[in-house]
Amino acid sequence: MNANRDEQSDNQARSDYDAVGGRPAVAAVVDRFYVLILDDDRLRGYFDGVEMDRLKRHQTALVSQVMGGPVEYSGRQLRTVHQGKGISTDAFAAVAGHLVTALTEAGVEPAIIDRTVTAVAGTAPDIIENDTAAG
Ligand code: HEM
Repeated sequence: MNANRDEQSDNQARSDYDAVGGRPAVAAVVDRFYVLILDDDRLRGYFDGVEMDRLKRHQTALVSQVMGGPVEYSGRQLRTVHQGKGISTDAFAAVAGHLVTALTEAGVEPAIIDRTVTAVAGTAPDIIENDTAAG
């Protein structure tokens, strides 16, 4: 691709998305993320019958957007998607942990991992549901 794409004007901060290597890098992290999830006995069952290619596409868009990439997530609302699955705090934490692992394995710097996971953790109220009495 472009070998000399590193020149940036001084006052233009590089997004985390660019810093990690853009779309191919994020897509690779998301691939690894779902390998870890499907390998986890606590989580595999949730994904039974889910079309993984579509899921990975959406997740790649979402993570790209969170990292400041020029990508807009246009999938369904996270609350709608996860509703009725009985996702616990523990399951959420396990999924978030796999995201950290996938990012770490890819050599992403800790500050970027931190920002990404903090943003993703903000989705918890839309995703976790069996800790509250009423839905
Ligand atoms: C950590 C934060 C999470 C984020 C940001 C997230 C994000 C997403 C996104 C973007 C999709 C695709 C939406 C679409 O197809 O339109 C999705 C689908 C899905 N997620 Fe999550 N998710 C998270 C946590 C979890 C957890 C903890 C579980 C279960 C343990 C889970 C289970 C699922 C399943 C089963 C689907 C597929 C739903 C379907 O297609 O019917 N997610 N998620």
